[in-house]
Amino acid sequence: MSRIDYFTEANSVEAVNARMGEDTDPRLREVMASLVRYLHGFIKEVGLTQEEWEVAIDFLTRTGQLCDNERQEFILLSDTLGVSMLVDALAHRRPAGATENTVFGPFHVDGAPELPMGSCISLDGKGESCRYSGRVLDLEGRPIAGARIDVWSDNSDGFYDVQQPGRQPTWNNRGVFVTGPDGRYDFVGIKPVSYPIPDDGPVGNMLTRLGRHPWRPAHMHFLLTHPDYERIVTHLFVAGDDYLASDAVFGVKASLIVAYRRANQSDTEWEATADFVMIAQPPH
Ligand code: BEZ
Ligand code: FE
Repeated sequence: MSRIDYFTEANSVEAVNARMGEDTDPRLREVMASLVRYLHGFIKEVGLTQEEWEVAIDFLTRTGQLCDNERQEFILLSDTLGVSMLVDALAHRRPAGATENTVFGPFHVDGAPELPMGSCISLDGKGESCRYSGRVLDLEGRPIAGARIDVWSDNSDGFYDVQQPGRQPTWNNRGVFVTGPDGRYDFVGIKPVSYPIPDDGPVGNMLTRLGRHPWRPAHMHFLLTHPDYERIVTHLFVAGDDYLASDAVFGVKASLIVAYRRANQSDTEWEATADFVMIAQPPH
């Protein structure tokens, strides 16, 4: 009679991974085998107790139950554990000189109005006005025409329009601008303020238990697209912000911190200038 290797503490990884079918997709096999190896290794390393496992199941259940079209608690979990930024770093190892990516966040909305250069996107009249300008360039420093620049920020109370429907005008602090042959862009928004990520759910509770705060340093979001160039998802961070070194979602990169200067050549209170450098789309 052949001996069966039933599940034991010692053989747990092999016992689970050996169950995968012959026809399992090779990439899925690689990812799942590694996941099981690390998961079991982690449980053994910390000696996870039954009570702790129940807490973890309850945490994940509540995280899922809070997710809907408006609230994505799992992405917040990924963001606050540094997973979103790590996956992004692996996917976008760009050459020196190219604009770096950062976290996309949950507050982008498709379909913001396309506006003429120079337009103001702050519709609630709150906050300190700021003129944003610069160029979209390729790695050789040549201007890129036809780049779509989709921008969004919080208002001066620290909320995006979608967080306050009915209280903020629709499309407040959002707009899309398309570059001409000189690659230049220019629009008026506000000097954004730092704000806490939604922290009234399990992720907020986790941060509190870990002695962490939920704040993000002030930033303006930029999404740049062009058919011939790799999409850029990035921010401009306000230099001097208190939370630059402790962003709750680890989104800050030194190259994305910009000095907001008191305006003297503009009708706004502040000016922020930054060029964006796109790299050619890899051939398919
Ligand atoms: C944001 O910048 O909008 C954001 C990013 C990650 C989590 C929450 C908000
Ligand atoms: Fe944001």
